[in-house]
Amino acid sequence: MFNKRTISIIGGAGHVGFPLGLILSSKGYNVNLIDKDRDNLKKISQGMSPFLEEGSQNLLSQMLKQKQIRTTYNLKEVAKSKYIIICIGTPIDGKLRPKTKEFLNFFKNLKKYLNHKHQIIIRSSVFPGICEKVYNIIKRHTKNLSYCPERIVQGKSIKELPTISQIISGKNQKAILEASKLFKKICKKIIKVKIIEAELVKLFSNAYRYVHFAISNQFYMICKKENLDFYKIREVMKDGYKRNAHIPMSGFTAGPCLLKDTMQLSSFYNKKFPLGSAAMQVNEGMPKFIIDDLERNYNLKRKTIGLLGLTFKADCDDIRDSLAIKLLNYLKKKKIKTLYSDEFYNLKGSINKELLIKKSDIVIISTPHSKYKQIKISKKKILIDIWGFANKSYNF
Ligand SMILES: NC(=O)c1ccc[n+]([C@@H]2O[C@H](COP(=O)([O-])OP(=O)(O)OC[C@H]3O[C@@H](n4cnc5c(N)ncnc54)[C@H](O)[C@@H]3O)[C@@H](O)[C@H]2O)c1
Repeated sequence: MFNKRTISIIGGAGHVGFPLGLILSSKGYNVNLIDKDRDNLKKISQGMSPFLEEGSQNLLSQMLKQKQIRTTYNLKEVAKSKYIIICIGTPIDGKLRPKTKEFLNFFKNLKKYLNHKHQIIIRSSVFPGICEKVYNIIKRHTKNLSYCPERIVQGKSIKELPTISQIISGKNQKAILEASKLFKKICKKIIKVKIIEAELVKLFSNAYRYVHFAISNQFYMICKKENLDFYKIREVMKDGYKRNAHIPMSGFTAGPCLLKDTMQLSSFYNKKFPLGSAAMQVNEGMPKFIIDDLERNYNLKRKTIGLLGLTFKADCDDIRDSLAIKLLNYLKKKKIKTLYSDEFYNLKGSINKELLIKKSDIVIISTPHSKYKQIKISKKKILIDIWGFANKSYNF
């Protein structure tokens, strides 16, 4: 039965859809999490968050108890909901081009369940212009299409969503009004723009961050060549000089969004985005750079390397597009003896951090999990700390 208070979230067991569903259900909506990943749906229905998401565990138990949230893999069920929010992945292919065909095919399949009562909200990060194509696919069924990009930092949606502004765009006034009404319940501020502007706000934001991080990674490489400490130089740059306050630390710039969205933008601009390409070269080149640098100083065939951390960023359990994993694969390919450990992801063959440190000649902090703050590494070991994590302090 169609219900105005029901929301279907497609990709509802994913990193964007799941926390969004929890937040909306906590505002009194009946939320239907729809996904093709049956394992994650099962975990959710049993009260377990499928991945680390701050604050999700308690909220999920509460929402299941109150029957505010349910799970299904049956796409047909969208028919019952007024709002249908699309949070499925928008990957790029091996040639770094957006796989738009898959995304559009999804709507070709969805449209048979749609009618003019439905409000479709796209939340995924999309290739600019794609919403217009989606509209052409679904318009005979419903014209109520809006694009409201997600901008949270992965793992912190529940905390962050209420504090950030929400970009709202839509094909008509009704779609904009309905999306605004919904997001006003969970966000601090609504900003209305055209669809193409909203698509670019999202991609520019991620490309900006990606390039920003690449600058520090490039500086790290320059420092390494000169046997200098980038962490120290960065501290001096900032000390008493506000214009440099935002220079990031170097590190592995990885994960499922920043590179992918930079490449979506590059494709949109006919690959004439040298800043984006250079950032990719620098960021993706970090694992090889570290090993090349070590090889200049040591015979790695005689050393054991230990990787502390495998996930794509600190204190998370996601290895998608992780540069620590890229580093591990690179070392394996070079047949260098490598041990690995992670606090949140149990890759086959992992060992605990204490044993790793004991058995390794070279320890690389490949993901700066907070738990590594307490570890002690003997001065006899070679420590590679790209994140400036070892917590040195300088007095200038
Ligand atoms: N992860 C983030 O922090 C983040 C932040 C902002 C925006 N985004 C964007 O949001 C989108 C989703 O990202 P994510 O990290 O949540 O991905 P994800 O892989 O964690 O989640 C996507 C979910 O969609 C499901 N799915 C895919 N196709 C489906 C289909 N046809 N029917 C039903 N379910 C389907 C998958 O099984 C998966 O559970 C992407 O466009 C991404 O760029 C992600």
